[in-house]
Amino acid sequence: MSEWAGEMNKAILEFSRKIKKRQLKVAVIGLGYVGFPLALEFISRRVSVTGIEIDRDRLKSILNKVSYISDISDKELNVALKSGYFRASADFSDIKDADAILVCVPTPLKGKNLPDISFIKSAVKEAALHIKKGALVILESTTYPGTTEEEILPIFQSRGFVHGKDFYLCFSPERIDPGNKKFPVGKIPKVVGGLSPAASRLAMLVYGIIIKKVVPVSSPRAAETVKLLENTYRLINIGLIDELSMMANKMNIDIWEVIQAASTKPFGFMPFYPGPGVGGHCIPKDPLYLHWKAKSFGFHSRFISLASNVINYMPEYIVKRIEGSLKRRNKGIKNSKILVMGVTYKKDIKDLRKSPSIDVINSLIRHGVKVAYSDPLIPFLKLEGIDLKSTVLSDTKIRGFDCVLIATDHSGVDYPGLLKSARLIFDSRNVFKGRHKEKVERL
Ligand SMILES: NC(=O)c1ccc[n+]([C@@H]2O[C@H](COP(=O)([O-])OP(=O)(O)OC[C@H]3O[C@@H](n4cnc5c(N)ncnc54)[C@H](O)[C@@H]3O)[C@@H](O)[C@H]2O)c1
Repeated sequence: MSEWAGEMNKAILEFSRKIKKRQLKVAVIGLGYVGFPLALEFISRRVSVTGIEIDRDRLKSILNKVSYISDISDKELNVALKSGYFRASADFSDIKDADAILVCVPTPLKGKNLPDISFIKSAVKEAALHIKKGALVILESTTYPGTTEEEILPIFQSRGFVHGKDFYLCFSPERIDPGNKKFPVGKIPKVVGGLSPAASRLAMLVYGIIIKKVVPVSSPRAAETVKLLENTYRLINIGLIDELSMMANKMNIDIWEVIQAASTKPFGFMPFYPGPGVGGHCIPKDPLYLHWKAKSFGFHSRFISLASNVINYMPEYIVKRIEGSLKRRNKGIKNSKILVMGVTYKKDIKDLRKSPSIDVINSLIRHGVKVAYSDPLIPFLKLEGIDLKSTVLSDTKIRGFDCVLIATDHSGVDYPGLLKSARLIFDSRNVFKGRHKEKVERL
């Protein structure tokens, strides 16, 4: 057996032994929508987790036992802190004992839709100063194919680390769907692509603690692309249904009825629904990472550009439809009063990132509308040039608006009350299921 094969087997045996004896230590870098639930999942299996978070407010919030992630209750956080298995810190030297380090930092866009992997690089550079020999580093942040091998590996190599001997490297995309109670982290199969079979094997052992099904692929590059395929698939299908909804409206066809009936086909069809756009830290930007990387190979992805263009037009389209509805009621859009219901990018989560509701609000403002909003999860909203406060709903208040736009369909909102008092409702989320046509217009 070669010296390296011996090292590899030793590492696998060592990880297996530690997992069996519940001695394996995990570090999670970045305690956000991805990292925080992941950390809690390990803690619930009595695995010691050190969470590294550089945002002082978030760290303070954790230490004060107040959760800032909708899917995590204060009680769950409290239980985790009391368990003795969770430590949150801003100090990277606290990862020195960790066997597995999971990197879950943001990957936003910069400039003209360019990938910004500076958070990953900075977190990994810092981690590389402290990891112990034999540690497994797993990148979970969504990124373009090649990041792990072209950008992360060299950081370790520049410190003289040899892969497979001093450390192991892997990419494993996070697939969490915030707000989805049916599929929490532990129930979503995990894909792993190690830089070597040993790295994949170690990652499978680690995720095997919390997840039933772990699926290995041949390389980090393949694993990076898996995530981008999933989100590009969503982007393109959402763009398609948005376009079909605009087409159907022109042709006087009810697209929602069509989708519902098409969904009865037991194979070959998956429903997507039209809406004001896509938001959050995934679908609007992940396909653009792929688009950018493909360009460096001289390949232009027409589907991604087209779907993004269609989706980006939706806020303006909704405003145009509202303008038409008001006009039919002899009312101009300028100086009209419109209440936007729901401003987060999707229902029942507190996340405002890239929310299409905000784009709709900005467009309404550009059309001279006096806009107010109501959202049980967002008490205040800071927009460019104006600060808004969530409207407390009452019959009189609702009656004072020319139109109520359902932009995000949070649960727990009194929709029947809204229907009773509103003069006109524009329903972009099919809350009213096409009923009450005299008052409710549907996207
Ligand atoms: N939000 C989602 O639904 C989702 C789903 C799957 C994958 N992802 C991907 O996961 C990654 C993280 O997304 P998120 O939604 O959790 O982002 P987030 O902004 O909610 O959380 C990231 C956290 O990392 C922290 N951070 C940044 N730099 C750091 C550093 N150097 N050291 C320690 N902490 C640092 C930030 O302060 C923040 O709290 C992104 O690549 C995203 O595309 C997100």
